[in-house]
Amino acid sequence: MLPGLKIGDGLTRHPFDAAFGVRTSGLVAGRHLKSGHTHDRHNTAYFGVAPSVFQGLMRRWRKSGPAWAMEKFTFVDVGAGMGRTMLLASELPFKAVTGVELYPGLARIARKNLALWRGAGRERTPASIVCRDAVEFRWPPGPCLAFLFNPFGAVVMRRLLMALAKTFRERAEELDILYVNNEQESVLKEQKGFVRVFEGEVKRSKADAIADHRIMANQPEGEYASSNAESCSIWRFMG
Ligand SMILES: C[S@@+](CC[C@H](N)C(=O)[O-])C[C@H]1O[C@@H](n2cnc3c(N)ncnc32)[C@H](O)[C@@H]1O
Repeated sequence: MLPGLKIGDGLTRHPFDAAFGVRTSGLVAGRHLKSGHTHDRHNTAYFGVAPSVFQGLMRRWRKSGPAWAMEKFTFVDVGAGMGRTMLLASELPFKAVTGVELYPGLARIARKNLALWRGAGRERTPASIVCRDAVEFRWPPGPCLAFLFNPFGAVVMRRLLMALAKTFRERAEELDILYVNNEQESVLKEQKGFVRVFEGEVKRSKADAIADHRIMANQPEGEYASSNAESCSIWRFMG
């Protein structure tokens, strides 16, 4: 069991978990997520996205004018954690939903959540997760929508963007990036070929704000903070 994830330790369950019987709550600092990979030290933390922020950003992505229909895109959650974003994305009409997660314990929990979701008939689009470093992930063919909820620091972000540019420069299909809590925005600005099509605050619903504040309040070391909105951006790779 990872630190901060036991109800007995004061973990507050997010209403999403209570409503759907899954397990995505809690905050685990990056320093507890040791997989043995050299990128471990750049891991920020595990924390599930606020469902209202995911939905708000998806609305903005639809308005941003993607060149392909949603049904053609593979949604890729880069740093999928326990899979909350994947569950939400699998309710939408994507071609497929994939997650990539570095820490095996989180990927295992995500797999269980995905099975529960499927069993409850909520999975509209097939979803699966691989336990791997994001930079080493092989991007599926066709248009891709990458989702990043501030998974890692600048070093890994730079390597990921270089790998993405190399892959998608050779392809005719679109690559878009949804970036929540966009701390490494400057790295995206530096990387040639990426154009920002949206930037702004995406609000948490009142229920999500209350839940996230409660979870943050349980942190033993008080390292992380949550506010009523997330700074977000959307990027399109233009080659
Ligand atoms: C803030 S959590 C987001 C979880 C999920 N995307 C969501 O929205 O519910 C970031 C996740 O990225 C993962 N991560 C960090 N570095 C990674 C890397 N190099 N490759 C793959 N996953 C990574 C962490 O282990 C953590 O689970």
